[in-house]
Amino acid sequence: MEQAMRNFFLFLSKNKSMTKLAKKYGLRFGAARFVAGSSIVQATAVIRELNKQNLAVTIDYLGEFVDNEEEANAMAKECVEAIRAIGKEHLNSQLSLKMTSMGLDISEEVVMKNMRMILDEATRQNVFVTIDMEDYGRCGQTIDIFKRLKSEYDNIGTVIQAYLYRTEKDIDDLNHYSPNLRLVKGAYKESPEVAFPDKKDVDESFKRIIKTHLLNGNYTAIATHDDAMIEYTKQLVEEYNIPYDQFEFQMLFGIRVERQHELVKEGYKMRVYVPYGTDWYGYFMRRLAERPANVAFVLKGVMKK
Ligand code: FDA
Repeated sequence: MEQAMRNFFLFLSKNKSMTKLAKKYGLRFGAARFVAGSSIVQATAVIRELNKQNLAVTIDYLGEFVDNEEEANAMAKECVEAIRAIGKEHLNSQLSLKMTSMGLDISEEVVMKNMRMILDEATRQNVFVTIDMEDYGRCGQTIDIFKRLKSEYDNIGTVIQAYLYRTEKDIDDLNHYSPNLRLVKGAYKESPEVAFPDKKDVDESFKRIIKTHLLNGNYTAIATHDDAMIEYTKQLVEEYNIPYDQFEFQMLFGIRVERQHELVKEGYKMRVYVPYGTDWYGYFMRRLAERPANVAFVLKGVMKK
């Protein structure tokens, strides 16, 4: 049942008509629990509040199905504005973005032009940028773009998904770049040809890449809401004397908020991924796919209206 619901929401997340409709009508159906608002002004207010609570942030301007250059350029400009807003107020925030929203489905040339514009501004404002990882079909290209940009800029990292079979090899190859990586389980619906279908295999793979990347001496963001993975990391850190400034935990805005605060109190660095923008629909559907309890929450919200 849970798997069927997951597939259903992942299927909905890819619906272009719903995406367009959602943009028109603004945050609905409880999406505001996971999305910080539709504008950078609303988003910076949220960052300020989180920073006050000793939570670091990475901000993400939402955008799905970008398939023309004009739209990709507009997305890139919005990212530059976000970086300036962070810099202006010296907020404790990074930026996360997706290669498709920078024009990956148009051409690599468009992506590189937009990324260099963003990274130039990010360098001026001392803001770190993370390339999110999307579906398997775009993984290889995203890693290649990351490698090219990493040889030009220091302030860039990317995401590695534990559920892919290729992941351990990617971690080894990327080690040459001493990269700052965010490690996640993986959020897209992938075929068993390319990704572990069983959760327990994904968890084992997640543990292996956390260990390898940390012991390679690289900065590691462990992005998960799963206590088992958090406990595993804590033990590893103690066992191998890994300095606390070599890693951080990350969670999504609106998810396990109490746990976020607990980790800060325990002395760990905790970063919250804060999405904003009018294009909230696909992101929201992926969050519902992850956890049926979120669906119950949304239904309660809809009933109350
Ligand atoms: P998982 O969903 O496996 O849940 C394990 C356990 O965690 C649950 O059984 C429960 O105990 C606990 N838990 C989870 N959610 C909870 C909740 N809402 N309340 C209480 N307990 C809960 N993916 C991707 O493909 N590309 C990307 O670029 C990113 N980026 C990214 C950034 C950040 C900061 C995060 C946190 C996540 C991502 N992801 C991602 C998403 C990631 O791949 C994954 O889909 C989700 O984090 C869900 O997996 P978890 O590891 O959180 O645990």
